[in-house]
Amino acid sequence: MKKLTLGLSALALSVSAATAQANCDAGEVVAKLSHVTGGTTHPKVVAANNFAERVNKEMNGYMCVEVYPNSTLFGDSKELEALLLGDVQILAPSLSKFGSYTPKYGVFDLPFIFKDMDAAINFTNSKDGKKLLNEMEDVGFVGLGYWMSGMKYFSANKALLEPTDAAGLKFRVQSSDVAKAMIAAMGGTPQAMAFSEVYGGLQTGVVDGQENTWSNIYTKKFFEVQDSTTETSHQLLAYLFMTSKEFLDSMPADKRAQFLKIADEVTNEANLAVKAAENTNRENILKAGGKINTLDAAARKKWVDAMKPVWKQFEDQIGADLIDSAANS
Ligand code: SIN
Repeated sequence: MKKLTLGLSALALSVSAATAQANCDAGEVVAKLSHVTGGTTHPKVVAANNFAERVNKEMNGYMCVEVYPNSTLFGDSKELEALLLGDVQILAPSLSKFGSYTPKYGVFDLPFIFKDMDAAINFTNSKDGKKLLNEMEDVGFVGLGYWMSGMKYFSANKALLEPTDAAGLKFRVQSSDVAKAMIAAMGGTPQAMAFSEVYGGLQTGVVDGQENTWSNIYTKKFFEVQDSTTETSHQLLAYLFMTSKEFLDSMPADKRAQFLKIADEVTNEANLAVKAAENTNRENILKAGGKINTLDAAARKKWVDAMKPVWKQFEDQIGADLIDSAANS
C-alpha cells in the first residue's frame, strides 16, 4: 500500500524528487503533478492534493500521483515544456501563462470581463468555454478542467485608491500581453516575473506592486512587503488543470475513463469551495496585520474606465464573438 503523497506538500521545500518517488509502489504509473502555489489554505493546493488522494486510493496499483507544490519541481517558465517532454504529467498553470501557445486565453485576462467568479464558472461551462479547454490539442496539451482561484486585487508600496495612483509604478505581471497592456493603461510599467520571484521582487523594490488573489497574497506573504491591497476585483485568476495528450493516450480506455471522472469530480468540488477559501485568506491577511482598501461604486468605476479600453486592443487576436460570450456569461 502506497503512502499518501500529501505529506509532501508540507515537506516540499526540502524533499527531493527522488524521495517523493519512493511513495509509489513498484510497477505503478507515476504521475507527477507540479504547481507553483503553497500554504495549506490555497485553493490550488487543496485541489491538487484532493486529486492525488483520490487517484492514489481509487487507482491504487495502477497509478500513483506525486504532488510537487511551490515550484519545487518546475516553476512558471519550464513547466509547459516539461509536460511536452514527459518530465511531468499533470499541471495547473494560470490561464495567463499560455500566451506563446494561443492568444485565445487572453479572454480570461481582460479586465472586468467577469463580474465575479460565478460568471467565470458559467463561461467555462458554456460551449465556448468547453471548446477552449482543448484549444491547444495540436500542441499536445489536454485540458482536464478549469480550476478557479479567485478575483485579483492590486497591491503596491503605496495605497492605490485611484488608478492614477499607479502612474509611474512598476508592477509584476504574469507572462500575459493583456496584463501588460492593462498596467500600461494605468500609467504603470509592467514587468513579467515568475511567481516564485515575486516576494523577493517586492521586498527588494525590483517591482513596486503586483496583482493577485487573496489566497496568493496571503500564502506567499506579499502583504508583508506592500503598503496595502486595493479590492479592485479587476481580473480573474483561474488555472488550466491539464495533462499531455501523450500521457492520457498511454492509459487503457477503462483507466483513462476513471482518471477523467476523478479529474471532473475534483474540479467541481474545487470550484464549489473556492469562494470560502478566498474569504478565509482575506481574513487571514487582516488578522496578520495586512491592510485592505475597499472601493465604493464611484471609485470602482474609475478603475473600470481606466482599464476597459484594453479589450479593443485584443479584439482581433481573441475574437469579438468570444469576448461577447465571456462578457455575457
Ligand atoms: C498561481 O496562482 O498559480 C500563480 C499566479 C501568479 O503567477 O501570479
